[in-house]
Amino acid sequence: MLTDPSPRREIGIFDSGVGGFTVLRELHAMLPTARLRYLADTAYAPYGNRTPDEIRARSMAISEHLIAQGAELIVVACNTATAHAIEALRARWPALPFVGTEPGIKPAVAATRNGCIGLLATPATAASARLRALIERHANGREVIVQGCPGVVDHIEAGDLDSIELRALVERHCEPLRAARVDTALLGCTHYPLIEPLWQAALGPDVKLLRIETAVARRAVDLWTPGTESPALHVETSGDPATLRRWVERVLGWHELDVQRWPAGL
Ligand code: DGL
Repeated sequence: MLTDPSPRREIGIFDSGVGGFTVLRELHAMLPTARLRYLADTAYAPYGNRTPDEIRARSMAISEHLIAQGAELIVVACNTATAHAIEALRARWPALPFVGTEPGIKPAVAATRNGCIGLLATPATAASARLRALIERHANGREVIVQGCPGVVDHIEAGDLDSIELRALVERHCEPLRAARVDTALLGCTHYPLIEPLWQAALGPDVKLLRIETAVARRAVDLWTPGTESPALHVETSGDPATLRRWVERVLGWHELDVQRWPAGL
């Protein structure tokens, strides 16, 4: 017998902070009638400087919360959490679909003309065995220069998308990619598309930048069966809701967003 789907069923999305908004923006546009709940783990950002155990523990606690709120699908809108936690999440909740966020090595291999690809990521993603395995599986003989980019997420979280300091930092992180003459570069952190013009300026106009958020949102749409639930967009943060609300208004232009505090773990 078929049971009525719960009117509370929703899609949970999380990131260490504001980066996952790049995925949420796409998902909201593709599924305007869904119930979406976004959790920004601001108090623990950046994940890129944390240990794999910490990243896993935060991802577990957040998923537990999202499931308790009604999540029947979870989008891990964070490359770092995907790299270090998605296997543990899938093992803990085997019946629940988790959509991960990983750099598109295959599209980069298809796009490169000179066979040299750059990959910009957080230090924790850059050091992960999962990323190494992904590259080994899909690079198909192409060279992939992986560059960990400490510091960048801190600027973006603080609302700095264009300062001289941030431009200099981005320049420095792009130096090895320029030296290797990559013609294609992957933005391997969901925060990075928020400063795409800075990456492009540092790498030069001829380098093709590839982002992943649309593909991630599309994968979530493919896995989601709309039910009778009414549309909603809830945003929660382990940090300060007023600060996050201001960031969202200024950067994304979304006004009057309801942002609640999620105090877990502090
Ligand atoms: N936005 C995240 C990612 O895609 C995490 C950034 C961080 O907190 O270091 O990797």
